Amino acid sequence: MRKLIIIVLVLVSYVQSQICPSYASWVAGSTNACQCNNGYYGTSPSTCKACPDNSWSTQGSTNTGPSITVSACNQCAPGYFVSTVAVTTPGSEAAAKCTTCGTTHSTPNTMATTQQTISDCNTCMDGYYLTVVAVTGGSAAAATCQACASQGAITRLRATDTPQTANDCNLCLPGYWVSSAFAQGGPAIRCTACPPGLTNSASATGATGLQTIASCDTCPIGFYVTAIAQSGGPVSCAPCPPNSSSPPSKNLGFCTCFDTNAPALSSSVTSCACKTNYFGSVATAPLAASGCVLCNDPNANYSLINGKCACRANTYGTPTSNATTPPTSSTCYNCPTDATSPAGTTEKAGCNNSKILLPLVTLLFSLILLL
Ligand SMILES: *[C@@H]1O[C@H](CO)[C@@H](O)[C@H](O)[C@H]1NC(C)=O
Ligand SMILES: *[C@@H]1O[C@H](CO)[C@@H](O)[C@H](O)[C@H]1NC(C)=O
Ligand SMILES: *[C@@H]1O[C@H](CO)[C@@H](O)[C@H](O)[C@H]1NC(C)=O
Ligand SMILES: *[C@@H]1O[C@H](CO)[C@@H](O)[C@H](O)[C@H]1NC(C)=O
Repeated sequence: MRKLIIIVLVLVSYVQSQICPSYASWVAGSTNACQCNNGYYGTSPSTCKACPDNSWSTQGSTNTGPSITVSACNQCAPGYFVSTVAVTTPGSEAAAKCTTCGTTHSTPNTMATTQQTISDCNTCMDGYYLTVVAVTGGSAAAATCQACASQGAITRLRATDTPQTANDCNLCLPGYWVSSAFAQGGPAIRCTACPPGLTNSASATGATGLQTIASCDTCPIGFYVTAIAQSGGPVSCAPCPPNSSSPPSKNLGFCTCFDTNAPALSSSVTSCACKTNYFGSVATAPLAASGCVLCNDPNANYSLINGKCACRANTYGTPTSNATTPPTSSTCYNCPTDATSPAGTTEKAGCNNSKILLPLVTLLFSLILLL
């Protein structure tokens, strides 16, 4: 129970540290960006809105971008069919009109953008199996479906033209483990939920044999594995430190900082900051430009001024930022003896004799007063 509470807390903090705005998620690959989730649309990832009236969109450039309108919602949510196609005519854009498949838990086998009829509701939603196939023609009707006996159980095959039996519920969803095995002609599979956030890597390969909670072996995106799943226990996960992330994983390892100039995280390096000789602020989103500047002139002030390496106080010059090899001699020069300069001085003229001038002025002033 305590473990469960920890995982729940961890999930809450993960949600708070997600890198994409609400209703958007990170899409890796050619796009490499936050995009509105399926079922949402927006002109940017920060303005994602839900598709209206059970219409639906597919995540990607088709539902997120400057020219996106409500017509991106050109499909229907599971359990609905397209009764009127979306309108893309500029000025009168409209989402697809969607009609419910009814109370039979059926859904179209394909998410169409073209017009459909009730007989396109020819397969069953997740967690249901097909008992009566859809009817086309005069007395058109949606398919009829029955709930699988166990929560989390699904059919391996989305049948459309052959009725199934309860025994066809022979697979558990990735967030479940097989607590009672499926047998051909025998009892239906039983599935038990993994602790929140964890998934079962074997369900992706279609495992049907008896499992234990140790099959809940994979941490979600944004978490790293602190202890692998083993007999009796599921995987243990901890959230990635701020400004880092990790894909879903079942192996021991660490998250990766977004900034390419941050060191690799490890058991001793637990936060993302610029690596040795680099200064600045680390990138706060995946693939964002590095915010770390290399200052490898030992005379440069180890804090940036306007994003560039600057000479220390009492020296002047223009040190190289991001030099691939350290300068062989310093690019910052000492001010003349007794002259001072603030950090970041570039010209020799910026060194003045304040160190000697101020006491002299004071001395002269005192002398005048004495006289
Ligand atoms: C992420 O990095 C930025 C830049 O260094 C820093 O200001 C911010 O505090 C970091 N985020 C968190 C949650 O620590
Ligand atoms: C230094 O390199 C970083 C990338 O590592 C870049 O973001 C930054 O703009 C560069 N700064 C200068 C002053 O060249
Ligand atoms: C670096 O410059 C800052 C002001 O920009 C100053 O406060 C600091 O003392 C300087 N550090 C060194 C080592 O000179
Ligand atoms: C020395 O120069 C700095 C600017 O570089 C200036 O702020 C300061 O007032 C000067 N001091 C004297 C005594 O002239």
